[in-house]
Amino acid sequence: MSAMSGIQSKFSSAINKRQSLLDIDTDALRLFDGIGDRLDDTFLETFADHWVISTRDNQLDSEVRTFLEASGKSVYWKRLDQHQKEDPTHLCGEEQTGAFLAKESGVNYEISFQSGYSQGIFLDQRENRKRVRAAMSEGKTLLNTFAYTGAFSVCAALGGAITTTLDLSQPYLDWAKRNMQANDIDPSQHYFCKGDTFHWLKRFAKQGRKFDGIILDPPTFSRDDKGKVFRVESHYDQLISLATQCLAEDGWILASTNCRKLSDSDFLELVKKGLPRSAKVKALPMPSEYTGESYLKSLWINH
Ligand SMILES: C[S@@+](CC[C@H](N)C(=O)[O-])C[C@H]1O[C@@H](n2cnc3c(N)ncnc32)[C@H](O)[C@@H]1O
Repeated sequence: MSAMSGIQSKFSSAINKRQSLLDIDTDALRLFDGIGDRLDDTFLETFADHWVISTRDNQLDSEVRTFLEASGKSVYWKRLDQHQKEDPTHLCGEEQTGAFLAKESGVNYEISFQSGYSQGIFLDQRENRKRVRAAMSEGKTLLNTFAYTGAFSVCAALGGAITTTLDLSQPYLDWAKRNMQANDIDPSQHYFCKGDTFHWLKRFAKQGRKFDGIILDPPTFSRDDKGKVFRVESHYDQLISLATQCLAEDGWILASTNCRKLSDSDFLELVKKGLPRSAKVKALPMPSEYTGESYLKSLWINH
C-alpha cells in the first residue's frame, strides 16, 4: 500500500477529528476548514455523504483530487470566487440530480446542488440554530429575517414557536415551507412574508407587532426589490434599531454577520449603536469544527 501524501493525511486527520460530531442525528458538517486544517483556501463539507469541496483556485490541486476520487463519495466542486454564483460542478462519484435531505441535530433540511451557489443550509450556524430552538417554547413568536431556506424558522417551530419567515425570494420561501414539511411541521400554521426586511420591520413597528425572538443574518451586500442598497458595515445599526421596535418585552435578537471587513469589536460597536444602553449583548463562538478563520460574528442580545 502506498504511503499517504501530506495533503491526503491532512484530510484524513481532519475528518477523523470530526467523527464524533457525525452521528445518527447529524450527517451535515464541515469536514475540513482551510488553514485550521493546514491547507489554505480549501474547505470540505458533507451533506448526507455527498461532499462539496470549495477552493479559491480555479485549478484543483492534484493530490486533493486524488484524495477525493479515492473516497468513493459523490463529490461536487465549488469555486469561492466572489463573482461566481453558479451551481457547484460534479467532480467524481455518483451524480446527484435532484434535491435530497440532510440532517443536523435531528432536523431535516432539503439540500440541492442545482440551486446556485449555496446548497440550502449554512453549516456554520449549527450551534446558533440549537440556541434558537432552546430559547423558544410553546406560543412564543419568532421573526426570521433574511431567512433564505428558513432553517432558523424550522428550529424555532420545533421549539414550539409560531414563526414568521421573511425573504426577498419566493423560491426560498417555498423551500422554507418544504423544510418545515420535512420535519412534520405544517407551514399553514406559520407566516411567510416576501419582500425587503427594512420594509417589513417598519410595517410591523407601525402595526405594533412584537416578536419574542428576531433573527438578523443579512448578506454582506444586498439590493432590495426597489434597488436600495444594504451594506452590513453601513446599515447594520439601522437594522438593529428597527428590529428593537418589534421586540416583545424580555425578547431577544440573534444578530450575525460573516462580513470579513468587520472585526469582532467593530461589529459589536456597530450593533451597540442601534441598541438602547440597557441592552445586554453576549458574543457567541463559531462551532468547534471551524478551526480556521473565525469569520462568523454572532451576538445574542437581550432587550
Ligand atoms: C446569507 S442568506 C441568509 C442565511 C440565513 N440567515 C440562514 O441562516 O440560512 C441571505 C438571504 O437574504 C435574502 N435577502 C437579501 N436581501 C434581502 C432583503 N433586503 N430583505 C429580505 N431578504 C433579503 C436573500 O434572498 C437570501 O435568502
